[in-house]
Amino acid sequence: MSESKRTENSKANSQAERASLHCARAGDERFLRAEGLTKTYESGRNRVTVFEELSLRVDEGEMIAIVGPSGAGKSTLLHILGGLDRPDRGSVKLGEFDIFKLGDVDLARFRNKEIGFIFQFHHLLPEFTALENAMMPLLINRSQKGAAKSRAESVLESVGLTSRALHRPGELSGGEQARVALARALVAGPRVLLADEPTGDLDSKTSESIHSLLKEIHRLQKLTSLIVTHNERLASICDRVLHLEDGRLYT
Ligand SMILES: Nc1ncnc2c1ncn2[C@@H]1O[C@H](COP(=O)(O)OP(=O)(O)OP(=O)(O)O)[C@@H](O)[C@H]1O
Ligand SMILES: [Mg+2]
Repeated sequence: MSESKRTENSKANSQAERASLHCARAGDERFLRAEGLTKTYESGRNRVTVFEELSLRVDEGEMIAIVGPSGAGKSTLLHILGGLDRPDRGSVKLGEFDIFKLGDVDLARFRNKEIGFIFQFHHLLPEFTALENAMMPLLINRSQKGAAKSRAESVLESVGLTSRALHRPGELSGGEQARVALARALVAGPRVLLADEPTGDLDSKTSESIHSLLKEIHRLQKLTSLIVTHNERLASICDRVLHLEDGRLYT
């Protein structure tokens, strides 16, 4: 890497560190604020406006369910709130921090540290073990390997998966895969958990155990959680339920 590139990266990193410190200090109300979000997908002649001028406010420590029909834009919204995708217009503020004012490198670092994301269908890496999957955010953040391993082991223990740590995703049940996805989302100690249909593919008994785990971890780790779900039982244990339909959020 060239010296100028290194200087640029280190400048970006220190900006991201200041950003997350800034965020960590802001333990105020309306911790997560999305304003005027608009997202349109265009491919060829097709143009899909998923939502326009959508706003959302969440207090620190809230556990929120987002429900709505298939195609309503729940995943799109969660990806934008988690900084995985940029809106066409609008802002997302976490604490005092406006995340889309960050450049790509800063945003990736900020996201990695502050936001745990559980993807719809989990997206575990099939060639890696549960432990390696859980370690991945720390390795991407260039944490020391030994420290990343012991942190991931401890998080796997907290989701009840110690005995399966060396199994690959293909050797795990759906419920166990959901636990690995949760461990990976929590490993960097985020303050926000965004979960996209965390129990979408599970039977009701297995779902119940993951719901209880989500609730317990939300409380113990003082998270702010937004959970997209079709599951009424999961929605019922959240503090608030938001309905996304026809490009609008209803309470
Ligand atoms: N990359 C993309 N390119 C074009 N259109 C997209 C893209 N991603 C999503 N869409 C469209 O945006 C709309 C919202 O999709 P999204 O995946 O956010 O819905 P969802 O509410 O999560 O649905 P589900 O409950 O089925 O997961 C859909 O009409 C979808 O076809
Ligand atoms: Mg979805």
